[in-house]
Amino acid sequence: MDVPRGHFAYLAEGIAEVVDVPVVACNRINSPTIAERILQRGKAQLIGMSRGFIADPELPEKVRAGKNETIRNCIGCNLGCLDKVFLLEPVICAINPLAGYEYERKIGPPGKGNIAVIGAGPAGMETARILKLRGFDVTLYEKDDRVGGLLNLASKVPLRGEFATYVVHMERELNRLGVKLKLGHRATVEALVESKYDAIVCATGTIASAPPIDGVEMAHVTSAYNVIGREMENLRKVSILGASALGCYAALDLASRATRVDLFSFGNRVGDDIGLSTRWVIMKALKERKIKIREEEKIDQITSSYLMLDGGEETTLVKTNTVVTASKPQPRTRLIEKLEAAGISVELVGSVKRSMNLLDCVHDAFSFANGFNP
Ligand SMILES: Cc1cc2nc3c(=O)[nH]c(=O)nc-3n(C[C@H](O)[C@H](O)[C@H](O)COP(=O)(O)OP(=O)(O)OC[C@H]3O[C@@H](n4cnc5c(N)ncnc54)[C@H](O)[C@@H]3O)c2cc1C
Ligand SMILES: Cc1cc2nc3c(=O)[nH]c(=O)nc-3n(C[C@H](O)[C@H](O)[C@H](O)COP(=O)(O)O)c2cc1C
Ligand code: SF4
Repeated sequence: MDVPRGHFAYLAEGIAEVVDVPVVACNRINSPTIAERILQRGKAQLIGMSRGFIADPELPEKVRAGKNETIRNCIGCNLGCLDKVFLLEPVICAINPLAGYEYERKIGPPGKGNIAVIGAGPAGMETARILKLRGFDVTLYEKDDRVGGLLNLASKVPLRGEFATYVVHMERELNRLGVKLKLGHRATVEALVESKYDAIVCATGTIASAPPIDGVEMAHVTSAYNVIGREMENLRKVSILGASALGCYAALDLASRATRVDLFSFGNRVGDDIGLSTRWVIMKALKERKIKIREEEKIDQITSSYLMLDGGEETTLVKTNTVVTASKPQPRTRLIEKLEAAGISVELVGSVKRSMNLLDCVHDAFSFANGFNP
């Protein structure tokens, strides 16, 4: 994802200039448009695609049929392919739940019924897609004015922009299949009861959480969800509390809007939840942006201009103007609790169940929707 599309074609073209055999251009060529652009330059004669065919093995057929707009373009996340190779696990795909499961997984039997899916993040979108493919009547509620959930935030982080490609693809697919998309609609118990659905599936995702530190409620303390991708004036000295993926991405994003960024890992491995093939890129980017990783295990207190660090015998003060919390998010369960209190049973998919990345959300949603019977 950090390599721009078609970026290494210039190498193939350089080789083509000095040899007289056909040369294949490859790496991050994920769409016919990019492939065609490279071929048109007249230097490389062939195009090689690897991950593009894992994400959408029907790509050549779709091009032949003039249906380029239905191609599920590889987003270069490496979550299901190269990360798995490095772990010596079978290759699958984050956004194509059939890849690697061609023998076991087929789209389930036809189903009938009127289903509400709440939340149009990756889990809700995949649930709606598969249910609709199976013939259910599906309404997808999203409180925001666009689909994508947290992927919209993730795509604003430097080097992570390609998540947006998947969101655009899924919205197009949902519309093409005829899923009823209710954007800007916060699902409520009343509205759901009134619509008499045969089943309700909650894919409501997560909400930000803050660590239990004195002072965390102060005005200059905010969550990573509130700052990533936002136009802001210089936040000056920023301390980010938590150095898993969320903290790292917040640091990368804020580096251009701060005079200094300190990333507190609390003794944990930085970027512990980032895949092998991506973590080193993120670590390098943190270094290049001069983000200081601090391994202190405990912060005693947040004051209006300092963090007080517990150093045993003595307390260290770290000057801070903005504190950003990047703790593990918590499941968003309010609607679920209300529905259950009203005696309405609910199915759960995606990160509302437990911490899940994109791959886990898509595969969880597929497995649920494909095996579902109301
Ligand atoms: C900055 C950032 C970077 C990330 N980077 C990566 C990465 O590199 N790789 C990776 O795999 N994952 C990454 N993630 C995590 C990934 O975005 C999540 O795993 C994924 O989005 C979770 O999907 P979900 O569908 O379960 O929930 P969400 O994406 O949270 O979607 C839930 C949706 O439900 C909607 N909703 C909630 N309640 C209601 C209601 N009552 N009515 C209607 N709609 C409702 C919400 O508005 C939201 O759109 C990142 C996340 C962030 C924040
Ligand atoms: C699952 C998988 C396995 C791969 N195995 C090899 C390999 O054994 N040797 C190699 O040189 N490249 C290997 N590659 C790299 C690809 O050949 C290719 O260079 C790379 O994926 C970039 O092209 P792409 O963007 O079209 O995927 C592998 C890639 C993937 C996704
Ligand atoms: S897991 Fe990600 S990088 Fe690998 S093929 Fe699928 S979309 Fe592409």
